[in-house]
Amino acid sequence: MRILAIETSCDETAIAIVEAAGDERAAQFTVLGNALLSQIDVHREYGGVFPALAKREHAKNLVPILEAALEEAELLHEDTQALPEAMHEKISEILAREPGLAEAFFEFVSECEPAPIDAIAVTAGPGLEPALWVGINFAKALALLWEKPIVAVNHMEGHIFAALAKEVSYDTANTPLIPTRFNLVIEDVEMPVLALLISGGHTELVVIKKWLEYELLGQTRDDAVGEAFDKVARMLSLPYPGGPEISRLAESLRFSLGGETAKYSLPRPMSGDATCDFSFAGLKTAALYLLKNNPEMSETEKKHVALEFENAVADVLSKKTARALEKTRAKTLALGGGVSANKHIRRTFTEKIKNEHLDVTLRIPSAALTTDNAVMIALAGFYRALRGDFSEPDALAANGNRTLAP
Ligand code: KG4
Ligand code: ZN
Repeated sequence: MRILAIETSCDETAIAIVEAAGDERAAQFTVLGNALLSQIDVHREYGGVFPALAKREHAKNLVPILEAALEEAELLHEDTQALPEAMHEKISEILAREPGLAEAFFEFVSECEPAPIDAIAVTAGPGLEPALWVGINFAKALALLWEKPIVAVNHMEGHIFAALAKEVSYDTANTPLIPTRFNLVIEDVEMPVLALLISGGHTELVVIKKWLEYELLGQTRDDAVGEAFDKVARMLSLPYPGGPEISRLAESLRFSLGGETAKYSLPRPMSGDATCDFSFAGLKTAALYLLKNNPEMSETEKKHVALEFENAVADVLSKKTARALEKTRAKTLALGGGVSANKHIRRTFTEKIKNEHLDVTLRIPSAALTTDNAVMIALAGFYRALRGDFSEPDALAANGNRTLAP
């Protein structure tokens, strides 16, 4: 099954074309095309993602990104297509609220053959609603024109599948994988799976006992981890997105300090309580006061703040996850979401699982699939398509607060 996946929930416009085979127990994927345009430079001057701007950028970028993905997949074939008047009208209606998108769409589709794909997967939420709508309406227009079914995917579900997928660089015997392409497999996943999802908008622990069934075990009561990283970075006058910036400062100091600890100490909110919930607002505020009380901090002292902040986050995340592992007796721990790109967090979990949870397998997304992308939407979309879980286009709507658990 060949899936075209669209992701526009935040500040990345992404389209992937993935060839998928197998079943829930063992699935193989070849990424034929993977085009992504980050809007970070556009949002940086606002210090964060500005929804109206994100929507405008997605509308501007979707057609070029589709073209790039199809081209990379070698599925772009020029042809002249005359669109029946009724079809033109319907698509104009679907794209009426996305400035400039209809014009670019018609120009593109009138010059190429319908893409040889089997289904369109699209992120339906959670995320920024105006941004999600652009992707959804684009998916609806393509689905109508090419007569393909639509699969609605939860963005966080995408992050879980990205974590479960393993990159394979060799041509496995008896699989349809293509050796020269980016290949992934999802196999030998032992249930229950505990997923720790850490991103710009979410921090949650989710249990999966059966494929596509999610149970929320705990979540943040205030800020998401990524949000805390971004806010503390701003306090340190670092550019958006702050996660990688803090990580860079912390790593450089950690390396030069050897085993020594940071100069300051910050709290580990809720790390000792019995729930699987998180709180990061207090940690963020403590960092704010630390900086306010020391206005003349040197660059090295600021690195100490970054280091201690990162240590505090990794501590809280690993303690809470250890508790959740005990509670659920999970066999697999999946770490997903943009913050799982953090080197220190990856290291902390790798060590912890190796030393303290011998019966648990840790799954972390490969670097290319850690932050937002469309490949992860294709992976989750395949599992949904296998069950025939397609959406009625008229009923498909963006939901900024879409949850995993029913
Ligand atoms: O999953 P993602 O790409 O988008 C959302 O779904 O939110 O996550 C973005 C978040 C941002 O807050 C960003 O600062 C954070 O992930 N992030 C990191 C790192 N790379 C990205 N946080 C800490 N360390 C990193 N290396
Ligand atoms: Zn994300």
